[in-house]
Amino acid sequence: MITPTSTPDSATPYGTLPAHATTSARKPISLPRLLEMHTRGEKITMLTAYDATFGAVADAAGVDCILVGDSLGMVCQGLSSTVSVTLETMRYHVESVARGLRRAQGAAWLIGDLPFGAYHESKEQALRSAAVLMQAGAHMVKLEGGGWTAETVRFLVDRGIPVCAHLGLTPQTVYALGGYRVQGKTLESAALLKRHSHELQDAGAALLVLEMVPAALAAELTTELLHCPTIGIGAGNGTAGQVLVLHDMLGVNLGKNPKFVRNFMTGAAGIREAMQAYVAAVKDGSFPDNTQHAW
Ligand code: KIV
Repeated sequence: MITPTSTPDSATPYGTLPAHATTSARKPISLPRLLEMHTRGEKITMLTAYDATFGAVADAAGVDCILVGDSLGMVCQGLSSTVSVTLETMRYHVESVARGLRRAQGAAWLIGDLPFGAYHESKEQALRSAAVLMQAGAHMVKLEGGGWTAETVRFLVDRGIPVCAHLGLTPQTVYALGGYRVQGKTLESAALLKRHSHELQDAGAALLVLEMVPAALAAELTTELLHCPTIGIGAGNGTAGQVLVLHDMLGVNLGKNPKFVRNFMTGAAGIREAMQAYVAAVKDGSFPDNTQHAW
């Protein structure tokens, strides 16, 4: 549950999120607006965020959708995969980001990732887990995988919970996939990915993340899925929108960024400006560049 802010009128001394809502500069993003953007050909921007301040700053930078991804397991908790992330951890971070957006009167669409094991047992378990994230402030939940998930998606959508599906490289099943590899490269695996995508759209999924999928396949799917905008990460520039992990696009890491990432801090005056550059590059189609960031 979101607890009310009980601070005095002034902003907090740490960070400067407004203690009270100011007049919003942007019209709130909604599901019909996301579909309308896609139909009109406007690219959808999505970034991950895991806390109140980064969520509010991403919103102020004009990001359309904020994903509280279970990538927080790696980024915030130091885990080696997303597999051990719990529902309680996701609830805590969704609630934090939702609070930040509320205090800054944000307009972004907030997506909470259902973690591994929180929706696999039954449709009813998925509903209980989704309710936890929705009550923490999410507008939509995301879940990974195709085939068996279509029934779960339909069950949630029928009960008023918007769902973002996720196909291609699905990090929660990294052990079954044999590593963080491009998916859908063979004729057979591409056909399966296509079938799963259509099943998820038919089940009512309102967005579909395509991760590490050949650009040509992702572009083809994007034109086929009229009611379910695709959001690519390592899937080329033919998708309806793009998502990146915040720390990757800010260059906050010690290792080498994956091929599909651009460090938007290069040449930016600050973090908000880097996010604005990301939004501008996705909207004008200059990011990603299929010759550098795609397969
Ligand atoms: O957990 C996450 O951040 C994600 C994105 C990489 C799409 O699922």
